[in-house]
Amino acid sequence: PPSTDAKWLGCPMGELRRMPQCGAPLPPLKDLPDQHTVTIRTDLLQAGRLPVPYPSKFRESWDDAHVKMPCSRSNLFPVGNQEVQERWTLIEEALTREFCNSHDVKNAILKYNTAHAKRWDFTALNLYCNKVLEPDAVEHLFTSLLPDMVQLALRLPELCTKPIPLLKEGTNHSVTMSQEQVASLLANAFFCTFPRRNSRKTEYSNYPEINFCRLFEGSSSKKIEKLKTLLCYFRSVTGQKPTGLVTFTRKCLDRPPSWKNSQTLLTKLHVTCEGTIEDNGYGMLQVDFANRFVGGGVTGSGLVQEEIRFLINPELIVSRLFTEALEYNEVLIITGTEQYSTYTGYADSYLWNEKHQDKTPRDAWQRRCTEIVAMDALKFRTFLEQFHPEKMNRELNKAYCGFSRPGVRGQDLSAVATGNWGCGVFGGDARLKALLQMMAASEAGRDVAYFTFGDSALMTDIHDMHSFLTENHVTVGAVYGLLDHYYRSVCQNCLTRRPKQNLYSFIYQEVISATL
Ligand code: AR6
Repeated sequence: PPSTDAKWLGCPMGELRRMPQCGAPLPPLKDLPDQHTVTIRTDLLQAGRLPVPYPSKFRESWDDAHVKMPCSRSNLFPVGNQEVQERWTLIEEALTREFCNSHDVKNAILKYNTAHAKRWDFTALNLYCNKVLEPDAVEHLFTSLLPDMVQLALRLPELCTKPIPLLKEGTNHSVTMSQEQVASLLANAFFCTFPRRNSRKTEYSNYPEINFCRLFEGSSSKKIEKLKTLLCYFRSVTGQKPTGLVTFTRKCLDRPPSWKNSQTLLTKLHVTCEGTIEDNGYGMLQVDFANRFVGGGVTGSGLVQEEIRFLINPELIVSRLFTEALEYNEVLIITGTEQYSTYTGYADSYLWNEKHQDKTPRDAWQRRCTEIVAMDALKFRTFLEQFHPEKMNRELNKAYCGFSRPGVRGQDLSAVATGNWGCGVFGGDARLKALLQMMAASEAGRDVAYFTFGDSALMTDIHDMHSFLTENHVTVGAVYGLLDHYYRSVCQNCLTRRPKQNLYSFIYQEVISATL
């Protein structure tokens, strides 16, 4: 019998490729209209130096192709008698007043958000300031951290001078900006300054929330831990300005592979019940178990894999400012974010732990070698529906969109670090999802590191299936055929909640009887 205390199975971790060792040299960083928006002076980019914003003066872009900026001249505020005032002036006035307690912060935010004054609740912020923090920490918050965050927010027109394009449905486009620009945008999100983003009925209804108002609401201890994590980020970036860049790429799959006819064999698999994607998958393509609104409930009440990742790597949150909801064939890839905090626990037991010093090396574009792919699985209400060929196709294509890099050689691709994608809140079956992700990764020419998050039975099952398929030279196309066959012969006419035969035993039986 196999040893029950194995912590990992399959190919040793050391055999899987990681960045920066495996990557091909990057081309020079360049702004390419219609493909890649770069918001800094690429000619002055240098390791350890603060990137210089480009252009040198704030450029207006109050239109439906770009983020509507709080500091835009067109961001107006009614002041009675049919008169209007620039909202940015009001924001500057409200935020530069001295804050002595959490009510002052609340009042400042409501000065330029009067329409929401009745609805917005600041209980979590009050609790954090009055019940959680020690007196010295309160002092530091009001005399140092918040004023620094205000300065960072108000430098927006000098830092984010170039219009930020909206990454809309159906487009392939990248945005590269400096970590300092991201920090200024996030400080604005904290103070809820983004216009037209507080109501579901605006032109941004298909975008995630960006203003942090919901972070301050309610008395849940989860909100307190979120605040601790985000304020740790702001303490870091106001203390010492980060000097790197971050790239956000929206990727749309136009030509899905022909799964049925694929002759591809499975790539290598390392599977472990210990460790996490973010800690043990460094340098690999790390999967974010996303919501179609990227970041999911990070600014609200969610606190599972995606939200935790967005909290410890807060630069991810800025993607919510410009990324329209993902379609069935789209993903968002984020390269270069830094980890600022460590945590313990998960969901209700999540606790901010401490400040983290990220030592991940930077690439030639001064980005941390941390590549994260936000891909949203389908949410299932019943167990059986996920075996429907259309649903399996959707998940295969979504994962393939996330993993494939057309034009990049196999030896230059890092392994995929993933796990129970779509199998927590979204109710999927981990054994099916592991197989679908292995098929997509193989088709994309990448190995897989799979983290079962403590589940050793799952580790053994996935490993046994992978070894069996590999030893029998079963192609991706053949597995696809078996999945289809499983649906038709076991699931389609099943009247119980769960099928009588599980997927893996069906696959073993079919492959063995075919080879007899
Ligand atoms: N590393 C490896 N595995 C993990 C980690 C980690 N750090 N954290 C969790 N897991 P879930 P979903 C495992 O529920 O079902 C969010 O609100 C663990 O076994 O976050 O795709 C999004 O915004 C966990 O049960 O992903 C979406 O709205 C499993 O991964 C929604 O949740 C699934 O984690 C997505 O739900």
